Amino acid sequence: MHQRTTVYQIATVDEESVPHVRSHMHRDILYPVDSPERPVILTTTDVRAPKVTQMLRNSRVELVWRLAGSQDQFRIAGFAHVVPSSTHPSYDAFKPASYLDLSKFAEHGFNWEKKRKEVWNEMSGPFRALWCTPDPGSHLASHEEQKNWPQSVPKLGEAKTAEEKKNQEISLQNFALVFIEPVVVDWVQVGCVPNQRTKWTRKGSTGEWTEEIVVP
Ligand SMILES: Cc1cc2nc3c(=O)[nH]c(=O)nc-3n(C[C@H](O)[C@H](O)[C@H](O)COP(=O)(O)O)c2cc1C
Repeated sequence: MHQRTTVYQIATVDEESVPHVRSHMHRDILYPVDSPERPVILTTTDVRAPKVTQMLRNSRVELVWRLAGSQDQFRIAGFAHVVPSSTHPSYDAFKPASYLDLSKFAEHGFNWEKKRKEVWNEMSGPFRALWCTPDPGSHLASHEEQKNWPQSVPKLGEAKTAEEKKNQEISLQNFALVFIEPVVVDWVQVGCVPNQRTKWTRKGSTGEWTEEIVVP
């Protein structure tokens, strides 16, 4: 399932327990082959971003996904896993947690590096260039400086110059997948009267979901 225009907000906490929230573009939902009831939500980021440090330190996150048309809100709590380039110096530290068996995604030759490159390749050239900037959050003397940054990065196999090849390498090296493994889903419907709210909680290692209707 691809819903590229869909945006949700993901909250993390830093080492001082200060919350941080930001918008993310939804990229995909992946269903483990032998446990489709445990889907993971896929988005992307820059491995240099502060949120990555926060997710690695405390993988508990919460995202809120509002569907404006139907007026539904999904608040999804879970664990965030960051998947950087397999050649990134810190790849070992970034390895997705062992409790999520990656072989469950093995259908059709799935592997995370292949998926990462596919998602990168599906984005537009100007989007791929966003991963060629100086470190996110670092100081800029003025917006003028941004004019010297790469404006577009070609797909894999389409680089014509040495500079384009270099930009592909930089962008891919900074490009990371983030996937969120939900453990609580809180669905609020404010498009009906009275409003309705349903909560699903995943129980421990068995992974079974329980459903509860709660007061909105
Ligand atoms: C509509 C919208 C979509 C965004 N999508 C993403 C995204 O998919 N990934 C991402 O890392 N940042 C995305 N951003 C930027 C983040 O919201 C945030 O400003 C930036 O990543 C810095 O976050 P951090 O300092 O907490 O790491 C988006 C911003 C907007 C306004």
